[in-house]
Amino acid sequence: METLKQRILNEGKVISDQVLNLDGLLNHQVDPQLTMEMGREFAARFAEAGVTRVITVESSGIAVAFATAYELGVPLVFARRKKTLLADPDALCERVPSFTKGIVTDIMMSRKYIKENDRVLFIDDIIANGDAARGLIKIIERSGAELVGLGVVVEKCFQAGARTIREQGITLESLVRIESLEGGVITFGESL
Ligand code: G4P
Ligand code: NA
Ligand code: NA
Repeated sequence: METLKQRILNEGKVISDQVLNLDGLLNHQVDPQLTMEMGREFAARFAEAGVTRVITVESSGIAVAFATAYELGVPLVFARRKKTLLADPDALCERVPSFTKGIVTDIMMSRKYIKENDRVLFIDDIIANGDAARGLIKIIERSGAELVGLGVVVEKCFQAGARTIREQGITLESLVRIESLEGGVITFGESL
């Protein structure tokens, strides 16, 4: 997506060789027009997959996951970050380390909203090491639903997340691939 690359160049701020601040379009502010365009792109790429639910993890994945679900005409379910002591015996939980926050969090999804006969498309904002993604993939596996694939807005190719997930045989589509942030410069990779 050329428009997205341009927005990343204009609004992205390189924080280090590893981290790109994308608050202006993904992690703080959201552009509805651009986000709906991303949703249409994901919906087109997974049009033949028979998706019955789109899932993501709160919070930054929700906007683009919503746009994708809207285009596909299916519900969106977002995994919650657990901070409550109200135990739900029906919930699927996984513990994941968070790359940016440097802490461990628990994510959970109720079995009410993910069923064995579901065909699930997992949408996320950024994939780095893939820890959060792996947590949600485990939840999907434990639910018995079928994971048809992952769609991520930004794939950071220099971290292992996307590669590891593809090596597991999971389809992963990214809208933009970032090869490097070295020297404060955003270098894009070729689309796969
Ligand atoms: P992931 O690749 O599966 O997301 O897991 P990872 O453990 O690698 O990343 C954890 C969190 O760090 C994710 O957000 C991810 O989007 C964020 N992150 C990783 N690299 C970058 C980066 O270069 N820039 C920014 N802005 N974020 C990055 P999260 O913890 O799920 O939080 P939230 O954004 O949903 O609140
Ligand atoms: Na994020
Ligand atoms: Na996310």
